[in-house]
Amino acid sequence: MRKLIAGNWKMNGLASSLAEIEALRGLTGEATCDIVVFPPLTLVEKAVERALGSAISVGAQDCHAEFAGAYTGDISAAMLAEIGARFVIVGHSERRSSYLEADCAVAAKAAAAHRAGLTSIICVGETRQQRDEGKAIEVVRAQLEGSIPDCTTSTNTAIAYEPVWAIGTGLVPSIAEIEEVHAAIRHVLEERLKRDGTLVRILYGGSVKAANAAAIFGVPNVDGALVGGASLKASEFSDIISAVA
Ligand code: 13P
Repeated sequence: MRKLIAGNWKMNGLASSLAEIEALRGLTGEATCDIVVFPPLTLVEKAVERALGSAISVGAQDCHAEFAGAYTGDISAAMLAEIGARFVIVGHSERRSSYLEADCAVAAKAAAAHRAGLTSIICVGETRQQRDEGKAIEVVRAQLEGSIPDCTTSTNTAIAYEPVWAIGTGLVPSIAEIEEVHAAIRHVLEERLKRDGTLVRILYGGSVKAANAAAIFGVPNVDGALVGGASLKASEFSDIISAVA
């Protein structure tokens, strides 16, 4: 399976950061994987322009579940598609915790993304407490079952396993722990989508760096990465991309 390496800039980046997209272009000309960058919404359209004709796609970090309406401050998937976004992240743990987004709300956003022709990256992951209580697999399974809409296919969806305790902390689960959760995710996908479930890309996210990327990419059912902090600088992000065998 062709790996997908995604860079989530979160709420970072002013216009000057667009230079990183251009630098990334230069560094990843012959990429053997799919690359997508998620700048803040203010930069999406300009990032699309800078990435034109390259191997880099651009996405947004969230969308609303409705096509249009009285939702002050929100942005629909159709609006994102219109400015050239091809992907959207839904259900990131930072949104699940800050905005109390429930699994059904995440599924509705993913369905809206698919209707607009976008590929959704649906995020799941347990907290430290849930892992310590031995509930990681149970929590991730339940989140996934509730967060993938009926219209999910291997072409319109990727899953990102991001343990909450590994995000921005420098902590990473052991290889065995990543393997166990990714296998459980694959199992749910096969239950829901049958054969097509074997083709959905499952990304790992949480403190991915150039130093640990190759080991993580070697884990069965790890089909790429969702990178936060280490995606902000093109040089660091391209080192992670280079770790794809
Ligand atoms: P870090 O790579 O900074 O840990 O962030 C991971 C993440 O949340 C990506 O969505």
